[in-house]
Amino acid sequence: MQAPDSEVIVTERIIKPAHNLTGTLRLPGDKSISHRYAMLAGLAEGTSTFSNFSTGADCASSLGCVAVLGAKVEWLPEDGPNAGRVAVTGTGGRFSPSNAALDCGNSGSTMRIMSGLLAAQEGEFTLVGDASLSRRPMERIRKPLAQMGAQIALTDGHAPVTVRGTNLTGIDYTTPIPSAQVKTALLFAGLQAEGTTTVRESVRTRDHGELALRAFGATVERTLDSVSITGKQKLKAIEAAVPGDMSSAAFFLCAAALFPESNLVLDGLGLNPTRATLLDVLTALGATVAVLNLEEKNTELIGTVQLNPPPKGLGGTTVSGALAAQLIDELPVLAAIAPYSRNGIRIRDAKELRVKESDRIALVVQNLRAMGAEVEEFEDGLDIPGGQQLHGARIDSGGDHRIAMAFSVAALRAEGDTAILGAESAAISFPEFFDMLENVAER
Ligand code: S3P
Repeated sequence: MQAPDSEVIVTERIIKPAHNLTGTLRLPGDKSISHRYAMLAGLAEGTSTFSNFSTGADCASSLGCVAVLGAKVEWLPEDGPNAGRVAVTGTGGRFSPSNAALDCGNSGSTMRIMSGLLAAQEGEFTLVGDASLSRRPMERIRKPLAQMGAQIALTDGHAPVTVRGTNLTGIDYTTPIPSAQVKTALLFAGLQAEGTTTVRESVRTRDHGELALRAFGATVERTLDSVSITGKQKLKAIEAAVPGDMSSAAFFLCAAALFPESNLVLDGLGLNPTRATLLDVLTALGATVAVLNLEEKNTELIGTVQLNPPPKGLGGTTVSGALAAQLIDELPVLAAIAPYSRNGIRIRDAKELRVKESDRIALVVQNLRAMGAEVEEFEDGLDIPGGQQLHGARIDSGGDHRIAMAFSVAALRAEGDTAILGAESAAISFPEFFDMLENVAER
């Protein structure tokens, strides 16, 4: 059973070169936080209301799943700053089994995290995805959830995922590869299990799962490298504004950094330290990044970021080890701006890029070469020398939203026009991307 293939390339978008990026933007809500809020609100008691909820198709998949499972999901009328308001009335801890398959679309977070949430629920549930999601590894969630007692069947390690809910027991688990999706799936299962579930990780991955659990009233204990939850806790509905998505902001921050005359301000941006590593990398590359108005809202940090590019252009850097894991979603756009730096960018320890929505290492290499760049490919990364001038080309996004947006950024400093094939895939995380880019790109 497979949902329709969302990879069919239907839209070509032409990106013209620009001189700089100038203006103020407010990014749509963070995708990772929106997924977690949708799922926990679906399980909680009462009606949760979110403003600035992610407008991406991925989070709509999570909302769609909880709706099929008995939660009531209602988009509230869009009214200026409250655009993206959604209300979710939860099921009070008990999802209804459904004969309909749960369609996760293109979203790995939906499939993996929902599997954890459903593992302790009564009934049988089948999660399906599009062609890209059906190729992605699911054993990483099946194995630890099975240790908790879960009954999960995969097809050759992949979707469809069939979960037969049962009583779970807490475990102490060390993740073999850093993954916030796996950690969150285990914590959401642990919330409903007997005893305590502990997840240990070698790199602290994004911690929105644990923070969202706290926001919904659960007790979660943390040490530097572990997070624990004791089961049988109940969640209460919340009202929250979702911070702007740093991984979407990354396209604008990197694009602005390419032009000495840019001046970009991003308001209401999520600044959770497990997500803000890009700001350190841009600083290391020579940009000036100012963080203003920092506040904590519903356990998450939010603030304003002002980026001023280095007057003499970007320097160079290496991203490897823990940095590579924390920057995993930003690596395609960092690679896309690397040829324009003076000293190049080297990326290692990023093998996970090969099992994202596409093989992101292969597609970055293919598309950089199409634009005339020199690049060396490694199994776990790439070396991109600096001081290169690229030319416009036809870019194959492979139906991968981050590839489509990363190469739209590379196109801004290329000679001539660039065509992004499969540009519609941007809507997976960021439907407003091209309109916002046109608003701030000065030509
Ligand atoms: C995510 C975690 C990361 C990231 C993905 C979203 C999340 O995946 O790449 O876009 O919301 O937890 P992994 O957990 O596979 O590293």
